[in-house]
Amino acid sequence: LGLLVGALLCCVGFAWIGQRDGKAADGSRVREITVAHGLAVTHPVHQGIEEFGRELDRLSGGSLKVNIFPGEQLGTETVCLEKTQQGEIDITKVSTAPIGNFVPVFKLFSLPYLFRDEDHYWRVLDGEVGEDLLDALSITESGTSSGLVGMTYYDAGSRSFYATRPLTSADSLKGLKIRVQQDPVAEAAVKSLGASAVTMGFGELYTSLKQGGVDGAENNPPSLLSSRHFEVCKHYLLDEHSRIPDVLVAGSKFWDSLNETERAWVDQAARHSSKFQRELWAIESQKALDELEAAGVTILKADPEAFRHLTKPVVEQFATGDRKEFVNRIGAVK
Ligand code: GCU
Repeated sequence: LGLLVGALLCCVGFAWIGQRDGKAADGSRVREITVAHGLAVTHPVHQGIEEFGRELDRLSGGSLKVNIFPGEQLGTETVCLEKTQQGEIDITKVSTAPIGNFVPVFKLFSLPYLFRDEDHYWRVLDGEVGEDLLDALSITESGTSSGLVGMTYYDAGSRSFYATRPLTSADSLKGLKIRVQQDPVAEAAVKSLGASAVTMGFGELYTSLKQGGVDGAENNPPSLLSSRHFEVCKHYLLDEHSRIPDVLVAGSKFWDSLNETERAWVDQAARHSSKFQRELWAIESQKALDELEAAGVTILKADPEAFRHLTKPVVEQFATGDRKEFVNRIGAVK
């Protein structure tokens, strides 16, 4: 049995190596690129990544091939970021929230009501501030390399609370256990509303909701739908407390291994996929709300003022140092 297992492992190992560096029909080298993320394949962000793969294939004439590992197959977002730094994963798609633990300026995106509305959010991300933040992803607080390279943003809409109990106003969150990402800002925001915050990966959340480990969470409509959390959580309160973008992040090890031309292709394909994904997002987000409602979820619009007021101390606590400068620059974007 030991020999059999050994032989099998060898085959898997060779298949893996073969997969990473193959040959095209004309004998030229094909570079296989591993892209990992935590969402379902029905999620519009996954479809954006698929478009990235198609565009890269087209630009590179088939010499750069993207292999996507969705649904936390290669680990939670934090684990994927670590593996990307180590060169085990070439590119990962994560929320900017867990990036804040690697590059603290990124905690900025989790600040409640940082953006005035969706237009403001995209004017910021598409402009100089968005570019400066993508550049900032490569550098740690102490000025050393983070091992990560920011490629492009994907739309992740706005996040709102959902729960197994009725949610009608900020008050109804009091005493509930709410799951948050690995994100100290979200933790503080949830506490400021009188709830307790429980940190866990996205993949564990369904079971936890089902078993009563937590009473609710917060996310955008496509994530509530594609994760099937709505099967357990029938109450969704649209308070839109944050707009936390998703971002495509390459590892420096992978990036450094590409030549100039390949880098230009990867960059172009990433930016192209962002535009594609954004258009898809607008449609899919509305469709998700309709489907959630049809599945029996009560969806209410919250008055954001109460939420804004209660979470204000969180903004004061975390908008410090270089984050404060970015907050001011974001506020100044018309
Ligand atoms: C969103 C986001 C994911 C993130 C998830 C979460 O769906 O797009 O990147 O993992 O929220 O709450 O964990």
